[in-house]
Amino acid sequence: MKPAQGVIAPQGLRTGRTVLDVARIREDFPILKQQVHGKPLVYFDNAATSQKPQVVIDTLNRYYATENANIHRGIHFLSELATAEYEETRNKVKRFLNASESREIVFVRGTTEGINLVAQSYGRRFFKEGDEVVISAMEHHSNIVPWQMLCEQVGARLRVIPMNHDGELLLDEYERLLGARTKLVSVAHVSNALGTINPIGRIIESAHRRNIPVLVDGAQAAPHMKVDVQELDCDFYAFSGHKLFGPTGIGVLYGKARHLEAMPPYQGGGDMISLVTFEKTHYNIIPYKFEAGTPHIAGVIGLGAAIDYVSGIGLDAVAAYEGEVLAYATAQLSTIQGLRIIGRAKEKASVLSFVLEGVHPHDIGTVLDREGVAIRAGHHCAMPVMQRFGVPATARASFAFYNTGEEVDVLVRAVRKVLKVFG
Ligand code: ALA
Repeated sequence: MKPAQGVIAPQGLRTGRTVLDVARIREDFPILKQQVHGKPLVYFDNAATSQKPQVVIDTLNRYYATENANIHRGIHFLSELATAEYEETRNKVKRFLNASESREIVFVRGTTEGINLVAQSYGRRFFKEGDEVVISAMEHHSNIVPWQMLCEQVGARLRVIPMNHDGELLLDEYERLLGARTKLVSVAHVSNALGTINPIGRIIESAHRRNIPVLVDGAQAAPHMKVDVQELDCDFYAFSGHKLFGPTGIGVLYGKARHLEAMPPYQGGGDMISLVTFEKTHYNIIPYKFEAGTPHIAGVIGLGAAIDYVSGIGLDAVAAYEGEVLAYATAQLSTIQGLRIIGRAKEKASVLSFVLEGVHPHDIGTVLDREGVAIRAGHHCAMPVMQRFGVPATARASFAFYNTGEEVDVLVRAVRKVLKVFG
């Protein structure tokens, strides 16, 4: 297939001293060698979950085979080993996000739980009737519903930053929404449905000028670009391990220490206490106050391996390479008549949503699957985004650093086949 004019299929990347050898990287991911329906797997559903490098799989195996024990409890060799690895991962996450202290890192199940924790702990403690929380029109349900639940509980109100037809937030409107009643701003760093990279630094600055804290949903950003929570100066930042090439069921909530200290626990149980009597319980210090019960120890240790792996590649190189893949895919898909890309923001990361005239996205997904191409078709847990663009659903290809230009060519050929079947 001929590439669209002037666009070269990305194979790998050499920027300055950084080399991203995609062919080599692919060797690290056993699942990518698979065939699906007799065709080589083309995995373009990375926004839903990413694939795991061998080192993460080996780390999980090693943990269960040789280290498995509960943490913070036993005074025996294995328990101390597991505890050390668990806490070492907290340090890794601290460095990964450039947080100033490891006690600002709370392990949760994923981004969703991180946001719910802030809503139910911070929100219920500090919000009252008439207060407002500002989110954006492109949020995932997990950054809408927890706030709606909180609003119902305390009588607060949800305000929504609108976006334009390219999928970019209207910042003037945002400024107008901020006021004396605004108690928190909670916005996605990168939209999972549109790929828009929001100007999060500016959003935080505006809120902070009015002393309003900001939570950033980093689920779609942390795997694709360098995140520096001190530079951003965000108050909370949440991301999921499974989108960052780590295990499912583990995620991170970063919170500034002064916020976490002021917040009540989210759940009660073991490990989150310092003293329990039937009359009164004294809570543990942060971050343990927010980690009730036996946590996902293997998940945390696996996440540590994933962070080491991604950091070894370098997130600047990842962002640059994925930018090339996205540009190539955008140019190639744009040559197809009747195909409309949903989300044309100037700043985008790794997500390409589209619709085909007269074909339901689920049918696109089904035909692509038969060609070995895995995409997501649906509302992407962002129904208000679909409503904004007047579509019931989209087909979404989402990329990672192990994807190639040749795989994009397979996608484009498969989409042309869809048109032959349904057109
Ligand atoms: N939030 C994930 C997605 O966008 C599941 O697909």
